[in-house]
Amino acid sequence: MTSTSLITFFLILALSLSTLPIPSFSELCNPQDKQVLLKLKNQLGNPTQLVSWDSSTDCCNPTWQGVTCDEYNKTYRIIILSLSDLNLPKLCPIPSSIGNLPFLQILEIRNIPNLVGPIPLAITNLTKLNYLYITHTNISSSIPEFISRIQTIVTINFSYNKLSGELPSSLSQLPNLVGISFNDNFLSGTIPESYGSFSNLFTSITLERNQLSGNIPATLAKLNLSFVDLSSNRFEGDASVFFGSEKNTQQIILAKNKLAFDLGKVELSSNLNTLDIRNNYIYGKLPEGLTALKYLHKLNVSYNNLCGEIPQGGNLQRFDVYSYQHNKCLCGSPLPSCKT
Ligand SMILES: *[C@@H]1O[C@H](CO)[C@@H](O)[C@H](O)[C@H]1NC(C)=O
Ligand SMILES: *[C@@H]1O[C@H](CO)[C@@H](O)[C@H](O)[C@H]1NC(C)=O
Ligand SMILES: *[C@@H]1O[C@H](CO)[C@@H](O)[C@H](O)[C@H]1NC(C)=O
Ligand SMILES: *[C@@H]1O[C@H](CO)[C@@H](O)[C@H](O)[C@H]1NC(C)=O
Ligand SMILES: *[C@@H]1O[C@H](CO)[C@@H](O)[C@H](O)[C@H]1NC(C)=O
Ligand SMILES: *[C@@H]1O[C@H](CO)[C@@H](O)[C@H](O)[C@H]1NC(C)=O
Repeated sequence: MTSTSLITFFLILALSLSTLPIPSFSELCNPQDKQVLLKLKNQLGNPTQLVSWDSSTDCCNPTWQGVTCDEYNKTYRIIILSLSDLNLPKLCPIPSSIGNLPFLQILEIRNIPNLVGPIPLAITNLTKLNYLYITHTNISSSIPEFISRIQTIVTINFSYNKLSGELPSSLSQLPNLVGISFNDNFLSGTIPESYGSFSNLFTSITLERNQLSGNIPATLAKLNLSFVDLSSNRFEGDASVFFGSEKNTQQIILAKNKLAFDLGKVELSSNLNTLDIRNNYIYGKLPEGLTALKYLHKLNVSYNNLCGEIPQGGNLQRFDVYSYQHNKCLCGSPLPSCKT
């Protein structure tokens, strides 16, 4: 372009801007949200996986990886942020700026090895958040009590991190909480008594592969859990609180602990499909009711102190000897028959 044609071009541009109505194209993205995302990207060291977060494009454009705006109610505020599979150029904490996306309903942070440090207080600013997932990162420190200030939370998943310290007792104050997954961390201490007062909605607790210990509070008997996985911890004593014929329990996984209680006294949910209590000190007989469980497809009671004849019938003989081996005096098919 020559300089005269350039001048003509700008002249026409200036004229059209002053005479034409406001262009119909305008960015849907809320400018504050966009600014927060660009700051977040910068604070994370501009990882190559976020190259699509380009200030010259609309952040509600589907090209912006992991960003979803509210198109349903046409507020175009960011409601879902998914930061996953990022290679950060250096170690980095979760930026506090994340708390400045006040319309977020789902926050997912997954598989970011260089993400370190504690969970920031700023997330308590996310007052519409329903789902909080931070998994497969190197974040550490304890699970903060302040999470319970986000009253809208439905599900928390902090599995596969380096979280330590005790379970926050205040979580029972969350009125909509349905489930927590804190497996594969370094959590220690006992399950808080307060967890017996989770709301009726609460159905899922997974705490496997931590360093949790002590007795399971009797208050937990009140819960109607569908999924329980406490395996590979140091729990001891009675875990019969998770059983009950009136409950809707589908999976009970208590393997690899130091639990000791009379299994012969528990009643079983008819929906039970998985019972894995291997490697404990559980005693008594196998409950006769196991034969009535239509959906039972995974059973392992090996390496306990169980005794007596394996009930015959239902799905029980579909499991092989490895599901029953190494007990005190369990006998009958598929194990050798009982000596009479
Ligand atoms: C849209 O608005 C309704 C009513 O306020 C609300 O219940 C719903 O959660 C909103 N949806 C989104 C995606 O924000
Ligand atoms: C934690 O950091 C180490 C070292 O960088 C890495 O090998 C590992 O994958 C990280 N863990 C997770 C869960 O990201
Ligand atoms: C929460 O947001 C307010 C204003 O939006 C801000 O002043 C405050 O610093 C934020 N809190 C945290 C902990 O980031
Ligand atoms: C929690 O996240 C982990 C890792 O992404 C996943 O494997 C697990 O299924 C999630 N837990 C629940 C209860 O959804
Ligand atoms: C447990 O929940 C199921 C449905 O989810 C319900 O049918 C059952 O009555 C509940 N049991 C108790 C003891 O609350
Ligand atoms: C049951 O657990 C034992 C002990 O950990 C293990 O050796 C065996 O393979 C398991 N059986 C099944 C069927 O998973």
